[in-house]
Amino acid sequence: MTLCIDMKKEGVSQLNRCADILVNGGTVVFPTETVYGLGASALDDKAVEKIYLAKGRPSDNPLIVHIADKTMLASLVLNVDERAKKLMAKFWPGPLTLIFKKSHLVPDAVTAGLDTVAIRMPSHATAKKLLSLANIPIAAPSANISGRPSPTRASHVLKDLKGRVDAIITDGDVTYGLESTVLDISGDLPMLLRPGTVTKKQIETCIGSILVDKTLLKQIDLVTPKAPGMKYKHYSPDAEVYVLNAESDDVHKEKVMRSLKARYQRIKYIEDSAEALSKTLYAKLIEADELGFDVILIKAVNPEGVGLAVMNRLLKAANYKVL
Ligand code: TXA
Ligand code: MG
Repeated sequence: MTLCIDMKKEGVSQLNRCADILVNGGTVVFPTETVYGLGASALDDKAVEKIYLAKGRPSDNPLIVHIADKTMLASLVLNVDERAKKLMAKFWPGPLTLIFKKSHLVPDAVTAGLDTVAIRMPSHATAKKLLSLANIPIAAPSANISGRPSPTRASHVLKDLKGRVDAIITDGDVTYGLESTVLDISGDLPMLLRPGTVTKKQIETCIGSILVDKTLLKQIDLVTPKAPGMKYKHYSPDAEVYVLNAESDDVHKEKVMRSLKARYQRIKYIEDSAEALSKTLYAKLIEADELGFDVILIKAVNPEGVGLAVMNRLLKAANYKVL
């Protein structure tokens, strides 16, 4: 049985029950500003195991540890340098995940055996409240079945995980709609491992130039993405996804539509700004499945600013098929 709590109807008092579930080694889905997360105690191997099981997630894909306040960080990592301090002052709480060298307190189950740990402090009011009531670090991947688009709406998270976790807290739509930016600051040169709504430029304004993982927009056979999770089939609805070249004019688009119509019955075409897509992409992919479309064709956006994050998710959802 999954305890379902709707924050739009029920009061904050219900969060105490969910915090207890977390402290006692259970699993709780909760809203964050980026996407819904599936949480369990980051200090408890067995609890973390339940996350992998509920999602069907490969166990070599490490989890992000969520904290309520900066004081919790010290016990989880070996060192917090000046760059980290600047980034935390500017972007926490908010959609930026930082990767540090981990302390012995963090179990291997969380980091998939790596000597680093990903940490984030969410800004969503419900997430903050839950994390501070539980008062333990919470490991939480996106609350989707592994490989599927991340849930950004209450109905989508209920559909994926009801019956597979101990509790689900819903609170309407999330704010941003794409997972947090992941920045590795465990080595000498910071590297962007997953783009998000905190952009490369914003990070560089804060700490100077950073490296970018080469695999963000390209499938490179011989290079493994630095974030283990980025190598898997990802963000994929049941419908076949294709990206329409950003440069396409109407003539090219018509040609592409004709060739798709020869092979598929129901085609959903999506064209929007990078900003709008960053908020709605996942919800649109899930809805296209619900409506029974065979194909989703999405016009590419300029991979600048938040557009880099949109194109990263889009290309993966399409398995790099650009027409
Ligand atoms: O916005 C988000 O970050 C959401 C919400 C729920 O907070 N969480 C999320 O978690 O997207 P998940 O597990 O779906 O994605 C975590 C990503 C994966 O690509 C994983 O491989 C990478 O972060 N990651 C985690 N720990 C890492 C580490 N120590 N080194 C490199 N990559 C790491
Ligand atoms: Mg995920």
